Amino acid sequence: MSKGKVLLVLYQGGEHARQEKKLLGCAENELGIRKFVEDNGYELVTTSNKDPEPNSVLDKELADAEIVITTPFFPGYITKTRIAKAPKLKIAITAGVGSDHVDLNAANERKITVAEVTGSNVQSVAEHVLMTMLVLVRNFVPGHQQAISGQWDIAGAAKQEFDMEDKVFSTVGAGRIGYRVLERLIAFNPKKLYYYDYQDLPVEAVQKLNEVSKILNGRDNIVERVESLEEMVSKSDVVTINCPLHEKSKGLFNKELISKMKKGSYLVNTARGAICVAEDVAAALESGHLAGYGGDVWNQQPAPADHPWRSMTNPYGYGNAMTPHVSGTSLDAQARYSEGVKNILKEYFSGRENYRPQDVIVIDGDYATKSYGQRNLIA
Ligand code: NAI
Repeated sequence: MSKGKVLLVLYQGGEHARQEKKLLGCAENELGIRKFVEDNGYELVTTSNKDPEPNSVLDKELADAEIVITTPFFPGYITKTRIAKAPKLKIAITAGVGSDHVDLNAANERKITVAEVTGSNVQSVAEHVLMTMLVLVRNFVPGHQQAISGQWDIAGAAKQEFDMEDKVFSTVGAGRIGYRVLERLIAFNPKKLYYYDYQDLPVEAVQKLNEVSKILNGRDNIVERVESLEEMVSKSDVVTINCPLHEKSKGLFNKELISKMKKGSYLVNTARGAICVAEDVAAALESGHLAGYGGDVWNQQPAPADHPWRSMTNPYGYGNAMTPHVSGTSLDAQARYSEGVKNILKEYFSGRENYRPQDVIVIDGDYATKSYGQRNLIA
């Protein structure tokens, strides 16, 4: 007789799982936690069958689960209706960062804890952001396509190829990832780095970036916090989104805000797909108002085969730097978030529930984090 059920929702690894045991985040390798869970007297059920609600294996198994674990890459959506049908559910753990796939307000109503492995893949995502900026600004994709298809048309690739140097970059959200993006951008000698966030960066963090910029590039006071998002995007060559998805960030980059962006600028979003209105982004790229859009997050995951972000391009046929949701799931990151999940489970199984404070998103019916919007301002 087990003490309770742990439900794990992960993507299928297939032949890749057999080839690479470090792919801990797939259903076959189960984050490496099976023995640990069973040694603690719990039953572990793993599934990749998560949609559609209410006819999936996830729905069936959640009905008597005490713990649910999933990743943002292939999220088991823990909706309000699913929560209502899961009377034993006590904790939802995110193997990674970003817990918007859980209806956090519904979790609060039921006093379900939601915890994630904060910081586990922030370096991985920051690197992906930089890579995506480079792919877009340097117009890598058309050049690569020429290289592998036997062509040699320099003008065809160079007509929309620029340098990162001397450009204005800005981030919406300057937390763990946003800050790391700013930090890494200094190496490219930017003209200005702006950030928009209701939380100020620590003074020392800004000082550090300004000092490094002064030493490396001879430019002082490179970092500036702005109060107006519209003004910031209107001055930026490249905008990157690095805030969580919540009531106030959902649909933030819509037709109206995108129209305020500089013509020919780039938008990079590795935060969450639903922060942008999919059709508005596609229309802005297709009209050439945006020169490029890239990222790895989609408003529905897996994204449908006909999702506009799969095929959208700018008028030259360039400017699409989308990937599936892979930025935060490098093998290095998988090791970190698997270990982090184990640590959260350890605290839960012991009954101490003394989690790392930064890992707790909601607990005891309330938000424990300041990152999911200014709760007092959300109606
Ligand atoms: P963090 O909590 O360290 O920082 C988030 C920052 O966003 C905070 O400073 C917060 O005040 C700010 N913020 C919240 N709402 C905002 C708004 N409407 N406008 C401006 N700023 C706002 O989080 P971290 O680690 O930097 O991650 C950020 C997000 O990135 C996660 O919530 C997740 O959605 C996404 N992410 C994506 C991954 C991927 O694989 N693509 C992996 C990891 C995180």
